[in-house]
Amino acid sequence: MKFSKPITDIIRERTSWRTYYPELLKEDIKADIKKILEQGNLISPFSSKTGNCRFELVSVLEFDPNEQKKLGTYGMISGVQEFIVGASEKSKYNKLNFGFLMELIILKATDLGLGTCWLGGTFNRTIFSKKVNCTTEEIIPAITPIGYPAKRRSREKIIRSMIKAKKRKPWEEIFFNANFQNPLSNDNLNEYSTVLEMVRLGPSAGNGQPWRILKEENKNTFHFYVENPKGKLAASYRPFVKLDMGIAACHFDLTAKEYGLKGGWHFTNPDIPLQENLEYITSWKSE
Ligand SMILES: Cc1cc2nc3c(=O)[nH]c(=O)nc-3n(C[C@H](O)[C@H](O)[C@H](O)COP(=O)(O)O)c2cc1C
Repeated sequence: MKFSKPITDIIRERTSWRTYYPELLKEDIKADIKKILEQGNLISPFSSKTGNCRFELVSVLEFDPNEQKKLGTYGMISGVQEFIVGASEKSKYNKLNFGFLMELIILKATDLGLGTCWLGGTFNRTIFSKKVNCTTEEIIPAITPIGYPAKRRSREKIIRSMIKAKKRKPWEEIFFNANFQNPLSNDNLNEYSTVLEMVRLGPSAGNGQPWRILKEENKNTFHFYVENPKGKLAASYRPFVKLDMGIAACHFDLTAKEYGLKGGWHFTNPDIPLQENLEYITSWKSE
């Protein structure tokens, strides 16, 4: 997928928008979005390992007035007239794949000057599933509003400050060298330093940032793990962590490609000793 400027700029620019002008998307922008959502244009490195995944642009006006009141965004999202709804066939890697593809769409929308906000929980799944004719094999892992962002309401500012939406964990808590006792130093990583920084800046459910990446000693091989959230509140984000990992893989992959770093994704668990709440997901190896 082509972007109009460096992906590092777009990743830095993206932020969750919950307040929009109540305007429909302009026809030319709508056509651009529909083109992006066409199935042949949306491929992730995990697409071949998982079932079908599809996305639709849905206008609020397509719902009957009774349904419009029940979209279930609970006052979190205001003004928006359109949503992107994704459906994915259940399978082992479907959330990783979905997370990758939905983030790709969100970055492309950011590049077009549009606002978005990942919604994994705060929407009415039944109504949106019906709208896109979900089969019994499919789930709707997440949706996003898409529209023209307006000045943040105070309600939105409160949500953002509660989840510390702007903050990210420091390097030493999420990137490791050879084992999980040894934080990864930024020195001598060259372009991989920016590649990892772009993962660090990614959005995640509840801003939990569950990604942990372990680099092999003296090799450009990066193993991706998820730290499963502990505690009652954190556990409510558990259904979304594989989506977060798809987002991490998307930012890594797009940035590596932009720097011309050649490599690919593998599922070969290196069997490194782990704390019990860490789970291996995938690896990127340079070629
Ligand atoms: C998988 C996923 C699910 C999310 N679900 C919701 C949600 O249900 N409601 C909501 O208001 N924000 C949701 N968010 C947005 C996050 O709260 C937001 O990305 C995070 O706080 C970081 O803020 P930023 O996106 O502005 O960088 C979700 C984000 C992700 C990645």
